[in-house]
Amino acid sequence: MKNKEWFRTWFDTKYYHLLYRNRNEGEAHRIIDALLHLLKPPPNSSFIDVACGKGRHSIYLNSRGYEVCGLDLSLNSITKAKKLESTTLNFLHHDIRNPFPIQDCDYALNLFTSFGYFDSVEEHVKMLKNIRRSLKSSGTFVLDYLNVSRVMQDFCPMAEETIDGVKFTISKAVDGNRITKTINVQDAEFSGEFKEQVMAFTYDNLCEMMIESGFVIQDTFGDYELNRFATDSPRVIIIAQRR
Ligand SMILES: C[S@@+](CC[C@H](N)C(=O)[O-])C[C@H]1O[C@@H](n2cnc3c(N)ncnc32)[C@H](O)[C@@H]1O
Repeated sequence: MKNKEWFRTWFDTKYYHLLYRNRNEGEAHRIIDALLHLLKPPPNSSFIDVACGKGRHSIYLNSRGYEVCGLDLSLNSITKAKKLESTTLNFLHHDIRNPFPIQDCDYALNLFTSFGYFDSVEEHVKMLKNIRRSLKSSGTFVLDYLNVSRVMQDFCPMAEETIDGVKFTISKAVDGNRITKTINVQDAEFSGEFKEQVMAFTYDNLCEMMIESGFVIQDTFGDYELNRFATDSPRVIIIAQRR
């Protein structure tokens, strides 16, 4: 049932933004600067930021002279991002499993593990095909995903953290091909539990799905400085071109 999907609730809470407070503008500038240096998009190129959250990458890209449209399912995040809209910066509340209301982009970005949330490989391929259709022919797609082998190396089944008076108790489990985080939140005004569940897609799985969806893999990097991908890299960053 749609209202039971974990990603509809967790990402729309203030607790998600508090727990991941280090995933901030500074980090967004770092990866965008590195990508602009690598890809050298001509001035005024257009970007789509797929699952843009509050728009930290979109806003910075736009300030660097590019036309940007961000899509996200979180109404709270999109409402916040919309306050910064302009003629060259737009945000849309959209479920990325459905065809996108925008086409002919030069570049598509899907950053900070905004993938792997759905129940089947087919749904992920459907999302990748939507991304492909939003691009011009030969447009470029950047997918930034967790590196499952590094996650397994660093695996910590239980952690506790208190941030601004909110206590987070996080338990992690690997069940089959999914990594599940259960996040217990204790706040003065709220106590409850959220779930974060990501498919344990390997680099090879990601490449297979991208190729099936009509992309050609061009390059792979392993962190936000765009060092080469290795099995212990923190990230898998795949650069692909629309076939
Ligand atoms: C880990 S956050 C990353 C957000 C943003 N890319 C960033 O780096 O700040 C994942 C995002 O995916 C969005 N999301 C999850 N499922 C979605 C869906 N079906 N359609 C659109 N957005 C979705 C969430 O609302 C959330 O903002």
